[in-house]
Amino acid sequence: MTQIQNLFDIIADGLAEKGYATVDNFLVQTEVEDVIGLDLFREERLKKAGIGKETKQINEGIRGDFIHWIDKTDAAAPIKKYTDKLDALRLFLNQNLYLSLKDYEVHLAMYPPGSFYKRHLDQFKSDDHRKLSVILYLNQDWKESYGGQLRMYLENKTLDCLPIAGRLVCFRSDRIEHEVLPATRERKSITGWMLDQLADLRHM
Ligand code: OGA
Ligand code: MN
Repeated sequence: MTQIQNLFDIIADGLAEKGYATVDNFLVQTEVEDVIGLDLFREERLKKAGIGKETKQINEGIRGDFIHWIDKTDAAAPIKKYTDKLDALRLFLNQNLYLSLKDYEVHLAMYPPGSFYKRHLDQFKSDDHRKLSVILYLNQDWKESYGGQLRMYLENKTLDCLPIAGRLVCFRSDRIEHEVLPATRERKSITGWMLDQLADLRHM
């Protein structure tokens, strides 16, 4: 079995058994470097993220990250390398978990030092098309003392996950509440969702 098939298997098993999965080296370090080297990740190219689907109010008391939605028809090569793998994962999960994931949407995300995203669920009340949340972390040499953990609220415990470069976390968007803890460094990721319908262009 190839390395990537092996990772896909671990993700499918985790989702089926627990509703979440974490794997390392979904992208190798050189691939991560190519993504973070992109001009798109400069602060002035990113926009303050909002909350809510329709209104998109900005509320720093809830989330403080900056984002850039990826146009899949026009993605830079290092990002396409990732989205191609993500799409292969989507087909794999459809086959192995009998899901009917039709598409995905992704954005770059950057949390400046001190920013956070309070406990929430990724499915919108008005729109339940987000089925799986998928986050790829891009932070090389990240140390526990920097903070910035993804904290998942499971049935009777919480699980903290460091945003280490190449690590992919995937969880059920309808079930797993989570939050992003503040960090002492800039924290970068590509964050996305697998959808049960085609992605619309609302973000573009
Ligand atoms: C989000 C989110 C988690 C993370 O963007 O909805 O919860 O670890 N991100 O970046
Ligand atoms: Mn979230």
